[in-house]
Amino acid sequence: MNTSAKKKKVVLLQGGLSSEREVSLSTGKGFAQALVELGYPFEVIDCKEDLLVQINEAKRNGAEVALLALHGKYAEEGIAQSICEYVKLPYSGSGILGSALCMDKVFTKEVLANHKIPIAHHQIANKNEINKFHLEMPLPVVVKPSRDGSSVGITIVNDKSQLKSALEEAAKYDQYILIEEFIPGIELTVPILDEKVLTPIEIVPKTDFYDYKNKYTAGRTDYIMPARLAESVLKRTCDIALRAFHACRLRCYARVDFRVTTDGRPYVLEINTLPGCTPTSLLPKSAAHSGISFNRLVEILVERATLDYAGVR
Ligand SMILES: Nc1ncnc2c1ncn2[C@@H]1O[C@H](COP(=O)(O)OP(=O)(O)O)[C@@H](O)[C@H]1O
Ligand SMILES: [Mg+2]
Repeated sequence: MNTSAKKKKVVLLQGGLSSEREVSLSTGKGFAQALVELGYPFEVIDCKEDLLVQINEAKRNGAEVALLALHGKYAEEGIAQSICEYVKLPYSGSGILGSALCMDKVFTKEVLANHKIPIAHHQIANKNEINKFHLEMPLPVVVKPSRDGSSVGITIVNDKSQLKSALEEAAKYDQYILIEEFIPGIELTVPILDEKVLTPIEIVPKTDFYDYKNKYTAGRTDYIMPARLAESVLKRTCDIALRAFHACRLRCYARVDFRVTTDGRPYVLEINTLPGCTPTSLLPKSAAHSGISFNRLVEILVERATLDYAGVR
């Protein structure tokens, strides 16, 4: 990296309107520290309803790149990216289409299936038709809202009597509900940065599954790097992660969540397009294990920032 080159002026977008606002502020704090250490001039926007006005103002002040520290709704599905596109301010991470696609687990699975990427069997239910829903898969199944994260609204159904309440729980969060074959085995996440796979992380909750409390309470889950899988299985999983990343037309970075059966078959569960970058988040941990410092990670996000129509007329 040429350190003598003039550093781009960055506008750091953080906060936002989603339930992950606090996580975003934590990602933003780390990004700001890295920008200081790397010598990038920058300003910070706390993203509220007036984001368009604020971004225009930042552009007038010379901002050349938006660095997204946002997570969850109004960002992860491409809304913040759309605003940047509209004012032609290059931004970090994936574009509008890939962001919108990966926010919706049902649509993501349709694209992945078309690319012959292994996914769990599933059915779809509509919130308004829960009473008519007929399960055509053996138990256990996992019931989840199509568009949400952080394991909210997810139930593992072991007994048919739990199915209706599981559908109702998921329906609190989305119109569309995904009912998925339960994949036994281990849980794995594969972070990608600069379109290259980083060290995969095995996720081992001490109890239950990787639900909200096990995700966000320190000490409830062990994270093992590199994952305890045969080299050939790890390689297959990493290859699938990269294929999934490209199939969904993602850019620069993402985190692909998997279940891997004990006989070594990986299944993609979902793809996170604005993965957390807090001090305890998985992507920075994996980057560090791969020899990429947090500052270098931030530098890559800034330098790779672009627009959907960059390079074409
Ligand atoms: N088909 C499945 N088989 C086994 N466990 C699952 C399955 N789907 C989800 N889970 C469990 O639920 C967690 C959250 O599911 P995921 O699809 O990654 O949604 P999100 O992280 O967006 O809430 C996973 O990390 C995993 O522990
Ligand atoms: Mg997940």
